[in-house]
Amino acid sequence: MSWVVVKGQDLISIKDLSKEDIEYIFKRTLEMEKLLVKRSKLLDDKIIATLFFESSTRTRMSFQSAALHLGARVIGTDSAEASSMLKGETLSDTIKMVNKYADLIVIRHPSDGSARLAAEVAEKPVINAGDGANQHPSQTILDLYTILKKKGRISKLNVYLVGDLKHARAMRSLLYGLGMFNSNVVLVAPKGLEMEKQVVEEVKDKFSINIEQTNNLNLKECDVLYVCRIQKERFVDPYEAAKVQKEFRITEDDLKNAKDDLIILHPLPKIDEIDPSVDKSKFAAYFEQAGYGVPVRMAIIASILGR
Ligand code: CP
Repeated sequence: MSWVVVKGQDLISIKDLSKEDIEYIFKRTLEMEKLLVKRSKLLDDKIIATLFFESSTRTRMSFQSAALHLGARVIGTDSAEASSMLKGETLSDTIKMVNKYADLIVIRHPSDGSARLAAEVAEKPVINAGDGANQHPSQTILDLYTILKKKGRISKLNVYLVGDLKHARAMRSLLYGLGMFNSNVVLVAPKGLEMEKQVVEEVKDKFSINIEQTNNLNLKECDVLYVCRIQKERFVDPYEAAKVQKEFRITEDDLKNAKDDLIILHPLPKIDEIDPSVDKSKFAAYFEQAGYGVPVRMAIIASILGR
């Protein structure tokens, strides 16, 4: 069953997990939510390394908080500049060292495939906390968990993924996760920032779910509106990013014909793509969503370490 599948494994892509694995992590997350008010010693003999070679607030701090909640000790780096990579050390050599210092390695890096490379070098389990525009699997698990908590199910919901779908790793991972759970998906991107065709076709072929693609937003049938920012750091031309950013914003007007129980999610950080007035609306669930990062990551860490 799932325990055996997850234990000792790397988590590099959402594709590394089965639906049963994710359901197992959901079950453990419910247990972890109860542990948040206590001090657990489940991992008090473990050291977790968090290596963030690209900026992060939520993922880095929620992994660290998750480890601390479980009694583990945390080491790591918050930037490439604070490590010997500044002197030119390779990622591969860095991981060979950290492998000797920690029981589990959490890594974020700006290059696609970097987490997979780290997992090939390390004997200890590696969790991908975001590699370039590629994958962000722990974000997907917490996104799915939030949908389940707020809506009571994931299957057959109309989930709209809106924003820079070309560059956002959270969206790429989530589309696959929604496929696993049989949601109906509508992809809404500004022109030129659509999700790669190959990524969409893979999910369609594997899970036979309905995926519609459009450049226009109409929320009448939407159950979950999942927005992401324009990923300006992945644009070749920063002026192009700024231009799209200006034109792309969800306002209260867009929500006028929305279902009463619509929820709006966002992996955060949000910049200009959601009008601040929407934060106060009954629809906004993104800060609650970010809060689930801690118990979900507690469940992931504990499961991988076999506890
Ligand atoms: N959602 C997310 O990955 O946020 P951070 O970049 O702050 O970690």
